[in-house]
Amino acid sequence: MALLEIIVAPDPRLKKKAETVERVDAATAKLMTDMLETMYEAPGVGLAAPQVGVLKRIIVVDPAREGAPPAPMKMANPEIIWSSDETKPHEEGCLSLPDEYEEVIRPDKIKVRYLDEHNEIRTIEADGLLSVVIQHEMDHLNGTLFVDHISNLKRNMIMRRLTKQKKLQTSAKRHALETA
Ligand code: NI
Repeated sequence: MALLEIIVAPDPRLKKKAETVERVDAATAKLMTDMLETMYEAPGVGLAAPQVGVLKRIIVVDPAREGAPPAPMKMANPEIIWSSDETKPHEEGCLSLPDEYEEVIRPDKIKVRYLDEHNEIRTIEADGLLSVVIQHEMDHLNGTLFVDHISNLKRNMIMRRLTKQKKLQTSAKRHALETA
């Protein structure tokens, strides 16, 4: 197992469309395990492959509440085959947009088809937090971030803060190198 580096916005790699997985082989299964470990360490409830620099349609999720037993799910090529007309707002965050949270409105219930870590086709129904997390992570596979669902005003504010944060970190790193 290995911890992977999570890409933080703004970054062009987070805006790309990920490619379909041909087959969930041993390398893909290992990537899923590494992604899950990275997600737990962060800590987060979901992670998509583009967030660790891999442009493949792979997500991992575990919306288990603190104290509850882990309920990890590994999905390749997830597809929403049905979603409810009923929508619900939910406050979302993202490991690629640290410390930023906004309410996003999405379908309440979904049916998802995907390939599991053994390359088997599975279909599940999800509601509540699981539904939110799956939809959020699937967005990453199309280069969409949760801030793309909110008003321009709010999105611009968040992206300005993240850009500023990134500049500060880059100059701190440069300073550390120069004085080393
Ligand atoms: Ni995210």
